[in-house]
Amino acid sequence: MTKTSPPLVSGAKPGIGHALEFQRDRLSLMQRGFTEHGGVFALKLAKQNVAVVIGPDNQKTFFMETDKALNIQEPYSYLRAMFGEVLFLAPHEEYLRQRPFVQEMFKREKMLHYVDVMQEEVQAWLDTLGDEGEMELTGQITHLVQEVAGNCFLGRQAHQQIGREFWDLYADLSKGLDPLLPPNLPLPKFIRRDKAKARMGEILRPIIAERRQHPEQYDDFLQDLIIKEDQAGAQIDEELILNMLLGFMFAGHETTAGQAAWTIIMLLQNPDYLRLVLDEIDRVAPYGVHIDPKRMVALDHISWAVREVERLRPSADLLMRVVDEDIEFGEYVIPKGWLVQVAQEVGHKLPAYFDQPEQFDPLRFAPGREEDKAHRFGLFGFGGGAHKCTGMNFANNEMTIITALLLREYDLELVTKQPTIKRGMGANRPSATVVRYRRKAGLDTAVSTPNATAVPTGE
Ligand code: HEM
Repeated sequence: MTKTSPPLVSGAKPGIGHALEFQRDRLSLMQRGFTEHGGVFALKLAKQNVAVVIGPDNQKTFFMETDKALNIQEPYSYLRAMFGEVLFLAPHEEYLRQRPFVQEMFKREKMLHYVDVMQEEVQAWLDTLGDEGEMELTGQITHLVQEVAGNCFLGRQAHQQIGREFWDLYADLSKGLDPLLPPNLPLPKFIRRDKAKARMGEILRPIIAERRQHPEQYDDFLQDLIIKEDQAGAQIDEELILNMLLGFMFAGHETTAGQAAWTIIMLLQNPDYLRLVLDEIDRVAPYGVHIDPKRMVALDHISWAVREVERLRPSADLLMRVVDEDIEFGEYVIPKGWLVQVAQEVGHKLPAYFDQPEQFDPLRFAPGREEDKAHRFGLFGFGGGAHKCTGMNFANNEMTIITALLLREYDLELVTKQPTIKRGMGANRPSATVVRYRRKAGLDTAVSTPNATAVPTGE
């Protein structure tokens, strides 16, 4: 029997199809498609045919066929106006040249250094909060994550030298993100984007030049990038260094800020589980103790909460590919030229894989349950296959550190009880969320010292 293209979800309007609904509330649209047709269905975004594929086997095909029948560059090509031909925005051979040195920069040994920088930055932020008050959590955490990214990727000295101007320029750059309009139209937002990028180049070029001249004086992420050679022995040129830095900031900061803020929010909304987290912090990483790698891996309850947020509140839920060659998903064939999407917020809530999927229940990842291991492509908040997120460990470590350090020093209460999901071009995050905080009684002012005490073993 010849296979047909997938069935269209209801509600398409003449001319625009589902475009308006997709923009306003894509989650309901995806849920409706799944209810009407199961794991493979079609949408119309104006003239563009889109297939949505849901369920671990379909998700597996989506990731494993990327760079074969499915193309990752084209759907994200609008990002090229910001970042040039960097990583998966580059032609495939160039991507393969860049990928090994990028992966090396996120290796385990490097991660240890980043975790120290993260702790210093989070502590510096906490030190500004005072004994009690109210704060808007999403904004505060976004600012904090920017400081962490700046200090980790640019190095503390360069980041301080550049100051907040970098992030003001970055804001102009990301306001120029537009997947629909041609990126070189003479619109004010595109003009501001290009000016911001040119100014960032002006700021960073002398820093790169100085570091090339005195390589012995520097040892950080930026320096790694500057001295790195590809497998053919060629140095990375200035333009690519600049684009990579901007690319990492983009891929890494709004996504991490969103999930970090949700981790705090969802813990506060679930006091029973919060109690387990607070007990764990008391045992493993009490106030004043540096979180070394051993302590980090012992913070199980925090890491399960972070994973549960990846499942329920994924920051980067809209992953897309263009079909280069007709491809089968289940009983359907998706023709060349269509767009294919996976939908984390539906795929992460399949009752066949996740017990009571709407519930916040981080213990689903604990030994004995381990629901994320039921299928390799069941949980995919960081993507999958060859393009799986390079910064996943970096982000998970950062979210763990923020959660542990904030909760061990402050008692928190949500003033905004039910924040909603705010969808952005870059990433999803919680809407403005006011939190009341009070410094815990009886904390001394001891400064964190690395490896101050051994990790307690056993319960
Ligand atoms: C919670 C935080 C984060 C989330 C949810 C996230 C999510 C993702 C997802 C879903 C992908 C795959 C995209 C696709 O298949 O279409 C991806 C790729 C990527 N991410 Fe992340 N990310 C996060 C943090 C970071 C950080 C901190 C960095 C680096 C500093 C980073 C760098 C990258 C890079 C370079 C890729 C492309 C990998 C490749 O194509 O080889 N991400 N990320």
